[in-house]
Amino acid sequence: MQPPEDHPHVPGPSLWPVGFAVGAVVLMVGIIISWWVAGLGAVIALAFAFLWVRDLTAGTELTHAPDVEPERAADGPAAPGPAATSASVTEERFPRSKFLELSTLGLGGVIGGIVTAPAVGFMIAPAFLKQGSKDHDIGPLTDYPEGKYVVATFMSDPAQGEVSRRTAYVRYNGPLNGLPSFTVISNHCAHLGCPVQPNGPLEESQKKQIRDVTLIPTVSIAGFGCPCHGGQYDTEGNRTSGPPVRALDRYSFSIRNGHLFLGHPFSVSHVDGTGAGAKIHKWTLAFPGEPVSGLESWLYPIQPPH
Ligand code: FES
Repeated sequence: MQPPEDHPHVPGPSLWPVGFAVGAVVLMVGIIISWWVAGLGAVIALAFAFLWVRDLTAGTELTHAPDVEPERAADGPAAPGPAATSASVTEERFPRSKFLELSTLGLGGVIGGIVTAPAVGFMIAPAFLKQGSKDHDIGPLTDYPEGKYVVATFMSDPAQGEVSRRTAYVRYNGPLNGLPSFTVISNHCAHLGCPVQPNGPLEESQKKQIRDVTLIPTVSIAGFGCPCHGGQYDTEGNRTSGPPVRALDRYSFSIRNGHLFLGHPFSVSHVDGTGAGAKIHKWTLAFPGEPVSGLESWLYPIQPPH
């Protein structure tokens, strides 16, 4: 009969750690560029971690004691009995190599958590802290005459003062399905972000100040122009000439208690039609210079969420 093995079980080389590392990398990259990619990375990492741990723990199962009769010397006493065999088995259940493997895995997990937690915290904390995410009251509806743009400047976060001042071009389009319809255009140029200006005079004499909000009606404008590189837009914010890659961004809005509130900005590839009947092709807010539709949007480098 062969003697029982006297060395601990050591698992053979495995690809599971490599898969786990790939999943962790995808997770990290996903946290920066997209939650979908992050979720995929998490699934890959968890799947390979499970397989890896299963492999490791499979070796720690009780190695069955050889079912052999104790050897006896010809005339001597019996070989060590069951108590000695049990002690030997207990020693082999947690060999040093297994301990080192499991501690390395645990330590890696702890370090990964320490590295990842701050990044995840910075990513999701703003959603709970409501930083600058509040809708902004830019005055009563009666301050917005039909068919005319009004230049509205306001502090997006009054606690931060003038550095948070933003400008929107707001036009009342009349009622649509019984509700007031507005066009609210951002003044950030879709080329490099310079402040675009209305192509027409302002009625400075009609200027109004309501808390941090300043309203100045325009007389009649022929679109918007950018002073930096000559980008031009029509009255719906569509690019008409120059380097901008898309239409001007817009603000979502809501109406409460007779006041107009601005919400989150969003990007627009182009607008079909005009006024209340216009069809706006909306996109998630993009950086200036970033195409949001067509082939160029696929060729443009991936941007982090913002
Ligand atoms: S930033 Fe407006 S055209 Fe360049």
